[in-house]
Amino acid sequence: MSKEDYKVINHEYDVVIVGAGGAGLRATLGMATAGLSTACITKVFPTRSHTVAAQGGMSAALANMGEDNWKWHMYDTVKGSDWLGDQDAIEYMCREAVPAVIELEHFGVPFSRTEEGKIYQRPFGGMTTNFGEGIAQRTCAAADRTGHAILHTLYQQSLKHKAEFYVEYFATDLIMEDGECKGVMAWDLTTGELHCFRAHQVVLATGGSGRAYFSATSAHTCTGDGSAMVLRAGLPLQDMEFVQFHPTGVYGAGVLITEGVRGEGGYLTNSEGERFMERYAPNAKDLASRDVVSRSMTIEINEGRGVGPDKDHIFLNLQHLGSDVINERLPGIAESARIFGGVDVSKDPIPVIPTVHYNMGGIPTNYHGEVVTMKDGDPDSTVPGLMAIGECACVSVHGANRLGSNSLLDIIVFGRAAAIRAAELIAPNTPHQPLTEGVFEHLLARFDKTRNASGEISTAEIRDQMQRTMQKYAAVFRTGESMKEGVEEMQKIFDSFENVGIKDRGMQWNTDLLETLELENLLAQAQTIITGALNREESRGGHAREDFTERDDEDWMKHTLAWVNDAGKVNFDYRPVHMYTLSDDCDVIPPKKRVY
Ligand code: FUM
Repeated sequence: MSKEDYKVINHEYDVVIVGAGGAGLRATLGMATAGLSTACITKVFPTRSHTVAAQGGMSAALANMGEDNWKWHMYDTVKGSDWLGDQDAIEYMCREAVPAVIELEHFGVPFSRTEEGKIYQRPFGGMTTNFGEGIAQRTCAAADRTGHAILHTLYQQSLKHKAEFYVEYFATDLIMEDGECKGVMAWDLTTGELHCFRAHQVVLATGGSGRAYFSATSAHTCTGDGSAMVLRAGLPLQDMEFVQFHPTGVYGAGVLITEGVRGEGGYLTNSEGERFMERYAPNAKDLASRDVVSRSMTIEINEGRGVGPDKDHIFLNLQHLGSDVINERLPGIAESARIFGGVDVSKDPIPVIPTVHYNMGGIPTNYHGEVVTMKDGDPDSTVPGLMAIGECACVSVHGANRLGSNSLLDIIVFGRAAAIRAAELIAPNTPHQPLTEGVFEHLLARFDKTRNASGEISTAEIRDQMQRTMQKYAAVFRTGESMKEGVEEMQKIFDSFENVGIKDRGMQWNTDLLETLELENLLAQAQTIITGALNREESRGGHAREDFTERDDEDWMKHTLAWVNDAGKVNFDYRPVHMYTLSDDCDVIPPKKRVY
């Protein structure tokens, strides 16, 4: 079959959202409620999106359990970002956190409650009161299944507001015309048909690319599909070198054990039984920011104080919390620890290790969710018709390191912001202009080429090599010498995709083809991560170089933009960090050394 044989089914909507995690569903709900004809395309059933795995909670300065203020939250987020976050966007997120979480409560999210019936809030890493003086209780939780609670509520609300869902549709490419996004192509996995979705705004909410690594807390579906579509459209990704390692993934399995465990009083120990975080972060201890805790654990292991027969992991202790706290606040991780770590948490510590968890980088956007690019020297020029929200986006509110519980916040605040913006930009049912003849021929050709790939290397083999290479060379600690090797390795792996071979040539539920398209997406992003890490000659947030140990604000307080060509070569440019706020209600937070 040649590409001329593909029939494409056409649809027209005001807006199309790609992805049905928390960000995608919050945007879908907001846009449908605003009267826009709204479709949501998703490769998995909505409530199986990766947000369902989010545990600890969503930050918002509600002050339900002690004094709090959104300006303290903003200070913590700027400091946590190691001064790479855009302060206008951070102000927006921390201020809007409060109405956004109250809205969720009104939509029906079953948050845990205080004695007085208010939303329960727990301490989380890097969240403080009074500009770093005390520990804040800011993270709104539904036990340790907060993402699950939010996702189910938003899906039900979206159905109630008549959003249309295209479930188990895999988005393959953006339809671009003269630099404008006009829609998206998608493959219906069940029937095998191809679809062209026209939209006045395409909203990418496709999550991160954690599966570029061997050990990650991310679902196997986290293959950065939207970000790869953006790269193929000739647009850049931003700050991809910043990858977060969560301190507590279950050793050997990578499954997440929430930071909420440490928020509820759990702590880490080494082979000497020492609470070593007291040495590294005397004030915040186990509740220092994630980059600090992950590095401290790695140093303990590297210096021979790891636990287990190979001294290659660390213990997380929560036995002392007692069964009431565990059953009420942490039931999910007790189950995960039993299934994946073989541990009864009321008796034994959980074996844990820093595990890839989050991409701080992604598709550059402003705080309305509009995608931006470098055009005619303007670093804030928007790409008409295209938005990105959630982990696939880089607003940038997390800068070089994200604080725990700022991710559920980010997806809700910016899903909501994108809906507000779309309602301003689009009049409901505005007609679509016809597309130029042949505008998506090259997209069909790419799909067809991969479907008929008959090389000698299997998808699984290339994926395994990529994941092991990324795990080894773009790790918690990085050096120029080893990353140069890593970049060369990754280029060979990228090139080997030309020789990939798949066996199934069908169109219906062809998982062989699906995984190969996902691999292609991951490969492009792995290139931006590892070359970006080699390129950035400083240490900042989650990017810790042993050959450039200090943060270098003079040369590197700037966002990296990375473009990838068909041969896997990466080109860089830079955008300034927004060192200004949105309103007069708060001042810019000037850079200083981070101490926890
Ligand atoms: O530890 C956690 O519960 C994860 C939260 C987050 O990444 O924000």
